[in-house]
Amino acid sequence: MRPARPGEWRAFALIAIAAAWLLGAANPATQAQALQNSGKAPPIPQAGPLAQPKPLDQVGLPVEATRAATPADNPQTPAKIALGEKLFFDARLSADGTVACATCHDPARAFTDGRPVSVGIRGRVGQRNSPTILNALYNVAQFWDGRAKTLEDQAELPIVNPSEMGQPNLEAAVTAVAAIPEYQQAFKDVFGKPANRTDLARAIASYERSQVLFDSPFDHFMAGDKSAISDAAKRGWQLFNSKARCNKCHALSEDTPDPTFFMDKDFHNIGIGIIRHNVNALSCQAEPLVNSGDTKAIDQAAIETDMSALGRFLVTKKDPDIASFKTPGLRNIVMTAPYFHDGSQATLWDVMDHYNKGDGIRDPYLDTDIQPLALSESEIDDVIAFMATLTSPEYANQAAKELARQRRIAQTSRPQRDTAKAFGPKPVQPRPDRSCAATQSSAPTK
Ligand code: HEC
Ligand code: HEC
Repeated sequence: MRPARPGEWRAFALIAIAAAWLLGAANPATQAQALQNSGKAPPIPQAGPLAQPKPLDQVGLPVEATRAATPADNPQTPAKIALGEKLFFDARLSADGTVACATCHDPARAFTDGRPVSVGIRGRVGQRNSPTILNALYNVAQFWDGRAKTLEDQAELPIVNPSEMGQPNLEAAVTAVAAIPEYQQAFKDVFGKPANRTDLARAIASYERSQVLFDSPFDHFMAGDKSAISDAAKRGWQLFNSKARCNKCHALSEDTPDPTFFMDKDFHNIGIGIIRHNVNALSCQAEPLVNSGDTKAIDQAAIETDMSALGRFLVTKKDPDIASFKTPGLRNIVMTAPYFHDGSQATLWDVMDHYNKGDGIRDPYLDTDIQPLALSESEIDDVIAFMATLTSPEYANQAAKELARQRRIAQTSRPQRDTAKAFGPKPVQPRPDRSCAATQSSAPTK
């Protein structure tokens, strides 16, 4: 073989760079790492047709709950929603003009970012996966741990979180917005006064409340069109409410199937991430912080530190809430991979494998409804087929491609699959033994 000439080396190098770029683009984890290394925020998605306010006459839309989710002091108006949309996509809200809400809540990905955990200003990587804002108005509280009560309260926190939009305080964001003529006019028109923090949050929340999305094949099935979903999906819906035990949490009530929300307005420890962390020690470490009730500091701990794994405990300081997280709704779930609060599962097959083995034997706070399910491979496929029918029409094409992508991954990689556990007995759960004094005294000090 002859040695390569300089021109050829350049070609090799270009091919190598292109291959690395392609791999990076295909793999969200590599992508997040690359962003962190680059010190740059991810690109800002544009508001397009998918970002528009949604109609209220969709099949399956719960009219009463939608009305109830709008607070009396922040009624929906088209002008306010339009102002909120503008703000949601505007990076000028961030400290250096590089990050908008939409950076991590991209309408093209059903208002998520497709990364295991989110990446904000200067490429800073957080601890949590970005949930969708679609149908977030129905949530019992906002964030995986519910630390914000309302969408208005929630909107303030990413603006001042150092890993997200990085403003030193909310006033800095308000000042930036107030300096822009088009916003001066819009705030005056909508609220009758100059930009201020309360109205900024109200406009954004109002835009988010316009993001109601139903009208899926499943909604049409429930409305009487028996051919709207496949037989596999019908079996999956049956399993969801019986052997697979999903309705224990993804339903407003365990007794009646819930075809609308797929959440119970509650928090559970389902064994995610708990293996990777010593939560007992972490919870002792977190006590002073939780006692302080400092919302901004707790937000930072949840987004930036290992204490993130403590979940609801960061809000309530109750032992049973250790590593418990909010039950999310499941609409458009195919579009919002990767899954769980830490983005740890790449595909819906991984999610199913996790539930099937009832993982978390060493977790004393594991919810008692998590147990081995003994689901066969075809039963797993049926539950996934059902979940895929929760896709709304605007995402139908993309979700079909995404499901195919996940299926391809699952054909060669099922890291969570453990058939012996799935078909085995329910393991004996260890008793909670959290004692901060004990943790401290048992530390190897001798
Ligand atoms: C750097 C990425 C990033 C940016 C920027 C960002 N978010 Fe988020 N968002 C997240 C992550 C991650 C979570 C989950 C955090 C948690 O639960 O602790 C979240 C949670 C939420 C939730 C809660 C949804 C639920 O189901 O609980 C809402 C609503 C939301 N964000 C809206 C916004 C708005 C409005 C903005 C802009 C003012 C914004 N986000 C900016 C990443 C981001
Ligand atoms: C004990 C309550 C419980 C049961 C039972 C349960 N879930 Fe969940 N589910 C949750 C909670 C809580 C989360 C969020 C947990 C986390 O991220 O740590 C979740 C998350 C999910 C997610 C990921 C959502 C996202 O946006 O990342 C999917 C998908 C899901 N569940 C589907 C199912 C299916 C299918 C079943 C039945 C096989 C099921 N769940 C059974 C409580 C439960």
